[in-house]
Amino acid sequence: MDIRTDRSNEKRRPSAADASLAQFVADVQYYLTQTPRQLPSRYFYDELGSALFEAICRLPWYRITRSEHALLAAHGDAILRHLDPLSAIVELGSGSGEKLKTILEAGGRRAGGLDVHLVDLSASALELSSRVLAPLDGVRASAHRLSYEEGLREATRAISGSGRTLVLFLGSNIGNFDPPAADAFMRGLRGTLAGGDLLLVGADLVKPERELLLAYDDPLGVTAAFNRNLLVRINRELAADFAVERFAHRAVWNAAESRVEMHLVARSAQQVHVGAAQLDLRFDEGEAIWTESSYKYEPEQIARMIEATGFRTTSQWLDPADRFALTLAEAV
Ligand code: TRP
Repeated sequence: MDIRTDRSNEKRRPSAADASLAQFVADVQYYLTQTPRQLPSRYFYDELGSALFEAICRLPWYRITRSEHALLAAHGDAILRHLDPLSAIVELGSGSGEKLKTILEAGGRRAGGLDVHLVDLSASALELSSRVLAPLDGVRASAHRLSYEEGLREATRAISGSGRTLVLFLGSNIGNFDPPAADAFMRGLRGTLAGGDLLLVGADLVKPERELLLAYDDPLGVTAAFNRNLLVRINRELAADFAVERFAHRAVWNAAESRVEMHLVARSAQQVHVGAAQLDLRFDEGEAIWTESSYKYEPEQIARMIEATGFRTTSQWLDPADRFALTLAEAV
């Protein structure tokens, strides 16, 4: 496999690293002073965060990755068959690359001579996924270290074949958007695609609260470490002095909104200084920073959400035991 890391952006903007640091500062300034305090979840994925996330995917209590893997292995061939003639696959949030590899292996010969575009914000994830896909014959992978939207735009500009494009949006990453943001995201996606292109969405389904809480607050404390690493990162990159051990991980099921919420809760009243953002924060005991939501759906709801934005659902595959759904839709 060729690995072509697209650095065109870095060339146009020599200060891309400065720009993303400035964005991080601006986001921390803005979100940490909202009521309730928040932090955007895209900052979870530094090198350690990405490694911790890979560990989460192997936890017995976190079943999304395994369930999705089994569905992709079972139906990858059918999915790729829908795509004939296929030009390219774009994966948004490609992470380890294992999901894409599973589909390509399930599709066997069909995948020969294929352009795949990996879009992720995490440099370590892009390195890992490029390595994971390297043994596959006939697969040319390009890495785009960009947001979903920018990455998709850059990838579609690079796609030259006359066949269809398949966009993968897996791992229930759709559930990390609130409903209006998911709708806006899907519309943007549809706008970038051509009629006949396809979208495969993996989304987690509503299940008993006990199971949901174990998935997001595991007995080994890996998810807690993943959440609290956000503070470690802010300390390091933004010259902050969060006392990491004085913030507890908390996961709650918000049934009315159908989402698991992740928070970091101050164990005691404390002051925090964020040097790069010239920010002084006073936390009361029990005050929380809301770091992530993971929405859970019913299968019809996923189809409706996708169809509201210019797609037609082609197929849906369910894992009834783990309550997970893969939905394939075509741009109309
Ligand atoms: N998309 C994943 C999910 O919603 C992301 C995730 C898994 C996550 N575990 C997490 C995000 C813990 C924050 C904290 O399941």
